[in-house]
Amino acid sequence: MKTENIKLDPHTFSSSELEAAARIIRDGGLVAFPTETVYGLGADATNECAAEKIYKAKGRPSNNPLIVHIAKAEDAEKYVFTDARYYKIAKAFMPGPITVIMPSKHTVAGSVCAGLDTLAVRCPVHPIARELIEVSGKPIAAPSANTSGRPSPTSAAHVIHDLDGKVDMIIDGGECEVGLESTIIKLTDDAVILLRPGGVTYEMLCELLGEVVIAEGVLDIPDPEVVVESPGMLISHYAPKAPLYLVRGERSATESFMRGKLAEKDVFVLAEDGSFDEDRVISLGSECDKAEAAKRLFAALREADERGAREIYAKYPDKSGIGLALLNRMLRASAFKIIEI
Ligand code: TXA
Ligand code: MG
Repeated sequence: MKTENIKLDPHTFSSSELEAAARIIRDGGLVAFPTETVYGLGADATNECAAEKIYKAKGRPSNNPLIVHIAKAEDAEKYVFTDARYYKIAKAFMPGPITVIMPSKHTVAGSVCAGLDTLAVRCPVHPIARELIEVSGKPIAAPSANTSGRPSPTSAAHVIHDLDGKVDMIIDGGECEVGLESTIIKLTDDAVILLRPGGVTYEMLCELLGEVVIAEGVLDIPDPEVVVESPGMLISHYAPKAPLYLVRGERSATESFMRGKLAEKDVFVLAEDGSFDEDRVISLGSECDKAEAAKRLFAALREADERGAREIYAKYPDKSGIGLALLNRMLRASAFKIIEI
């Protein structure tokens, strides 16, 4: 298949420039598009055949459900049974980087919810994502636009690398602002469960909703005996080709360990600016700016691979605020390989 690439400025594009992409969605094709979190691989969520194409293009296991993207928070009514908690969340954080799982009304294609009785909905804030949903007039099922298991794409170049020739169109809208996938919460009868931390932080959710339960598997290795809440929580996920090690300990000892590693051939380090000066250090931004580190993480993992890294080392991050999401992705990318100093 020939993939068409178009480039749009998120601040100045006009909706007519999305007409061709919207037509592809309406005709059951695949369009990769930017969101504020990561790039998504979109298809009409009500078209069974289109949704199935997503799994094929990504090489994604068919038991891993998709998020349905909607233009307005109220549109969730068509697909799920909402409650007062949903509207409280919507008022505070939508449109934005949060996904809410609720009981499904089974009004989208069966393969979107992969046989579950619940469905994930998300209302993105990125203008291109919003306009694509509006102009196509369809709810858009979209996982991250990467090959299954690889780091999520935060630029169109990452999407082209993974999916060129496998999708109808890729819309380049620049770099993603948040850089990590949306926060996912599940509303059950008696609890609010955080399944995947993201740009809307655990602290923000607790302040709004009171108690929020952090699901098993967010920060620990999922127990094979326990059924994980989210099939996407496999241990090795977001993985670079080279093994990633997280180094935990007192700062100067950690840095001197990593400096020692950098002396070895083809070893790369992901770190904030200023700690190391070797060429094989990939920047996660300035120190103390965790949002910047979150934004850069996936691109840094991909860069390490592209530059032929044999091993990658990074500091174990602090878990407050967006740090929890950063830690969650780093633990998965490293398949929980932690070096205690
Ligand atoms: O930021 C995002 O959420 C991006 C952009 C494109 O919107 N999308 C994204 O989708 O990250 P994906 O498919 O890569 O990750 C969605 C995760 C998967 O781990 C999936 O297992 C989980 O959400 N999920 C979806 N529906 C679910 C459900 N009904 N119950 C439990 N987990 C669900
Ligand atoms: Mg994904």
